[in-house]
Amino acid sequence: MSSSPSPDHLRAVNLPAEWAPASWRQRTALQLPTYPDAAALESTLQELHALPPLVTSWEILALKKQIADAQEGKRFILQGGDCAETFDGCTSEVISNRLKVLLQMSLVLVHGLRLPVVRIGRFAGQYAKPRSADTETKGDVTLPSYRGDIVNGPEFTVEARTPDPRRMIKAHARSAMTMNFVRSLIDGGFADLHHPEYWNLSWVGHSPLADEYRHMVEGIGDAVRFMETLSGSEVHNLNRVDFYTSHEALLLPYEEGQTREVPRQWGWFNLSTHFPWIGMRTAQLDGAHVEYFRGIRNPIGLKVGPSVTPDQLLRVIDVLNPDDEPGRLTLIHRMSATGIADKLPSLLDAVKREGRRVLWICDPMHGNTESTSNGYKTRRFRNIRSELEQAFDLHAAAGTRLGGVHLELTGEDVTECLGGARELTESDLERAYLSTVDPRLNYEQALEIAMLIVRKQSQIATPA
Ligand code: PEP
Ligand code: CO
Repeated sequence: MSSSPSPDHLRAVNLPAEWAPASWRQRTALQLPTYPDAAALESTLQELHALPPLVTSWEILALKKQIADAQEGKRFILQGGDCAETFDGCTSEVISNRLKVLLQMSLVLVHGLRLPVVRIGRFAGQYAKPRSADTETKGDVTLPSYRGDIVNGPEFTVEARTPDPRRMIKAHARSAMTMNFVRSLIDGGFADLHHPEYWNLSWVGHSPLADEYRHMVEGIGDAVRFMETLSGSEVHNLNRVDFYTSHEALLLPYEEGQTREVPRQWGWFNLSTHFPWIGMRTAQLDGAHVEYFRGIRNPIGLKVGPSVTPDQLLRVIDVLNPDDEPGRLTLIHRMSATGIADKLPSLLDAVKREGRRVLWICDPMHGNTESTSNGYKTRRFRNIRSELEQAFDLHAAAGTRLGGVHLELTGEDVTECLGGARELTESDLERAYLSTVDPRLNYEQALEIAMLIVRKQSQIATPA
């Protein structure tokens, strides 16, 4: 993870008026659990407040600077990871496999786009989930919905489903362990470009994409050796990469507990993650989440769904980035393959017309969720692909830039999304469907997305 301090604190950005880490409590907060034991909640929040932060302000400001570069077309953002992390999934294997996929994808992107890639994991804190209903009913039993491991458990029992504040302490600890392992792997040379074989996943030897990937890695290896022969020494900075963390900052009591002032900086930082984002269901202009986010200095994301009008979008931009600060605001559009051509252009035009400074990235996953006849929540690779390809075309037509992607993926050999190079079918879903929430791209499908981004971008750069 990056460590160079940024001169960002010298910028003339105004302090948000009448804001405090707890001012969101005066607004309507959607998607929050009801904790039955108020005293237990209060003592947990006090404990959380005293625990050390997970990231530092200078890492946060370094990322903001990189996002500002991406706004100018000098970097590409790769944001990806699980829909929801689980406490049980905090294992060496799950963490390192997810890192391997993200590293391989970023290598494909760096090589193909000829741009530095900013890697942002959906991990080390992605434990809270919005749900479409507050309760779930089976037979004649109704219980609170599962809202992610930071709130309650997925099992359909009263005990598991009752929101437990102690889970926040566990989530903080699991996030710290995840971050610690990622940092150690990277500092220890896991991401060294001299050794991309460290990132190979054992189960992919026979992937239909393996040849293309191997070919590219060999080409990069040759280029590195050539440069080292020419210069007579090792090329530095190939042995480490920056990695940032992100999660949906949904559970506001938890986020408030990790919101701090730090020495030699003005303002407040959310120190539980580098890049928190606002989910689609909690993006109301006058809601608690927008209130909380407007006061923190992190770079932030905002999911933009198909129901948002240009006028609503401009008003929320005014609240979240009133000073048009570079790097501050990333808009993550998630429209669906069938809706994007209809919904996106007017938003792109409005933001461009008003000259607002944002980074646009595409989440081609969340608009394309469907249920199969055998009862699985899935996504079709061809729809994910189609939304992403249309996004590139629509931005090109509007004269705006698609600066990154936001994906749900895993390094595990799962069968959750249909299609892709191995053409997974509905009956394959039964083999390895592990997600407790949304279906993720497996390694091969994720790598295929990276390859198609490169192909699409080069078509746009050199139209036929
Ligand atoms: C998510 O990113 O897992 C999610 C719930 O997305 P959205 O808010 O866009 O529906
Ligand atoms: Co999801």
